[in-house]
Amino acid sequence: MLPQTLFVFATALSSVTAGPVRRRCGGTPVISSSSPESSTTASATGSVSASASASPSATAGPAAGPTLPSTGSGTQLPGPSGQLQHIVVGHGIQNYTCAKADSTASSATGALAVLYDITALAPGSGSGSSPAQTMSEDAWSSLTDNVLRKTDLPLNIVGNALTKYAADASGSDADLTMDGLSAPLKAIGHHFFDAAGVPTFDLFGTGERLVAKKLNDTAAPAGADKGILDTGAVAWLRLGDNGSGASKGLSQVYRVYTSGGASIACSEANTTISVPYTAQYWFYA
Ligand SMILES: *[C@@H]1O[C@H](CO)[C@@H](O)[C@H](O)[C@H]1NC(C)=O
Ligand SMILES: *[C@@H]1O[C@H](CO)[C@@H](O)[C@H](O)[C@H]1NC(C)=O
Ligand SMILES: *[C@@H]1O[C@H](CO)[C@@H](O)[C@H](O)[C@H]1NC(C)=O
Ligand SMILES: *[C@@H]1O[C@H](CO)[C@@H](O)[C@H](O)[C@H]1NC(C)=O
Repeated sequence: MLPQTLFVFATALSSVTAGPVRRRCGGTPVISSSSPESSTTASATGSVSASASASPSATAGPAAGPTLPSTGSGTQLPGPSGQLQHIVVGHGIQNYTCAKADSTASSATGALAVLYDITALAPGSGSGSSPAQTMSEDAWSSLTDNVLRKTDLPLNIVGNALTKYAADASGSDADLTMDGLSAPLKAIGHHFFDAAGVPTFDLFGTGERLVAKKLNDTAAPAGADKGILDTGAVAWLRLGDNGSGASKGLSQVYRVYTSGGASIACSEANTTISVPYTAQYWFYA
């Protein structure tokens, strides 16, 4: 069922599971590939607890398939229906517009992100001969923090790179190289808002597309990474097909393990503010 593109990760995975993952201590977690004697058993059993802020809603054995995480407290997103197709990490920006300089509440107007396939790294995704090739729960739940903090925003930046990320995604389809992974994560899509303001997921790597609408949201865990502008992590979401008939092969997506992306206060009228973020997106058919 997994697409062929996933198999290129085989070499990357062994280095991830072979290296120790230091637990996060309120800071940025570290994936290290320097000590080969660490436990592959922990990652293979899926019994290692995730970070304090988010934990999987069930412990899954290696063959049980990846389990959509929960925020750990409060109202949870309704569970998925259908079959899990892909898990990606998205890295990009959330856009907000400011009506006036003194408004504390800016309004969300869009997002732009490059999507990298991480399906084969998911704890629980290994089966048969490859259960040990997945990440530990710790490495998995802190992957978005690491991508946000340790890799460059994969967009073309114009303007002030600290508070305003005027950006486009042209030429941004390079695979993502990251410390701790011996092979790059494959870029398989873009997430953007179309001209009508409709959230869209274009998986150019598979030919699938989800023209979406937001169904449910729930606040990110209190301990989630507040992002490089220290504004907070955007909510976890469940989105469905918007019914226009434009989707192909996908019917739902969840946004989880968010890092950064929340709005900052407006300092100028009629401006767009772009806030860097990362998230995992789980696609279902
Ligand atoms: C986001 O805002 C930037 C300006 O900061 C703009 O260049 C970009 O086109 C916007 N993208 C979306 C998807 O709204
Ligand atoms: C999720 O969203 C759907 C559609 O908007 C709504 O019918 C449902 O009640 C929501 N469920 C929860 C738990 O919020
Ligand atoms: C769904 O998205 C398409 C593409 O932007 C748009 O034309 C259509 O109006 C949307 N439908 C609904 C019900 O929002
Ligand atoms: C912001 O834009 C609106 C509509 O385009 C305009 O009426 C208003 O004067 C602008 N405000 C400022 C401070 O530029």
